[in-house]
Amino acid sequence: MIMGIDIGGTNTQGVLFDGKSMKARCSVEGNEARHAVRCYNLLKKKAARRHKVVLTGGGSRRIRKRDFPLPFKRVGEIKAIGRGGEYLSKRRSVFVASIGTGTAFVSVKNGNYKHLGGTGMGGGTFHGLSSLMINRPLNEVEKMARKGRGLMDLTVKDIVGSGIGRIPAKATASNFGKARRSLGKKEIAHSMLKMVGETIGAMSYFAAKTVGQEKSMLICGRVALNDTVKKTITDGVKLMGGKAGFPRNAEYCAAIGAALL
Ligand SMILES: Nc1ncnc2c1ncn2[C@@H]1O[C@H](COP(=O)(O)OP(=O)(O)OP(=O)(O)O)[C@@H](O)[C@H]1O
Ligand SMILES: [Mg+2]
Repeated sequence: MIMGIDIGGTNTQGVLFDGKSMKARCSVEGNEARHAVRCYNLLKKKAARRHKVVLTGGGSRRIRKRDFPLPFKRVGEIKAIGRGGEYLSKRRSVFVASIGTGTAFVSVKNGNYKHLGGTGMGGGTFHGLSSLMINRPLNEVEKMARKGRGLMDLTVKDIVGSGIGRIPAKATASNFGKARRSLGKKEIAHSMLKMVGETIGAMSYFAAKTVGQEKSMLICGRVALNDTVKKTITDGVKLMGGKAGFPRNAEYCAAIGAALL
């Protein structure tokens, strides 16, 4: 059995594989050696006595041999995201956007994993802006966002009076372009999630298009579980002519890749 443990910019995710089948998962808040060890101990309860460990993620570089209860292998995060995307999409050719603390774009073609770039827009942006403007835990901000109606965003209709070509009237022309404090925090939460989702959606689409994969985009990472972000990216990408999917276990993409590489 093989464990893949992804120590990210914020959290630690782990999976246990027996051949090609996933036997267990774990998610631990925190990204230090002790969080990786806790994740390992949780997975170990479900593992056969003989097992191997593969670490990945930005935080894995800081983990020294003596921090861990057994020898481990380390693999690069880009390869792990790519391999995980391949597994989750069941495709040999796929574009993967991994939205964690920040966002990375990876193109997979027949076992080649290419880092196309990324953006600092991601979960860390929600976290930071939420603490400045809303001051509530993220799951609450997410609920508030669902109640918002987008009243702070300037639409194409607000400027032009109608849609333009394929761009519908309700499309965003300017995120926060009509912001007023009196509209309240639900509107801030909504527009903030939408701004990050729309930016990532647009950047993902353009990145995917450079490699001809705009019709097979897979969105992973914990932020891909957020309903508002999901809808924003799905709609935005569709509007531009692409297709984005959100797999189950999206938050385990890199951990899965590490286990399977
Ligand atoms: N309900 C939520 N809605 C939106 N974002 C969330 C939610 N819960 C957590 N996040 C954000 O998800 C981010 C963590 O995601 P994830 O665990 O995929 O990243 P990571 O692997 O630690 O980071 P990276 O992959 O960038 O190194 C945090 O920045 C956090 O703010
Ligand atoms: Mg990650």
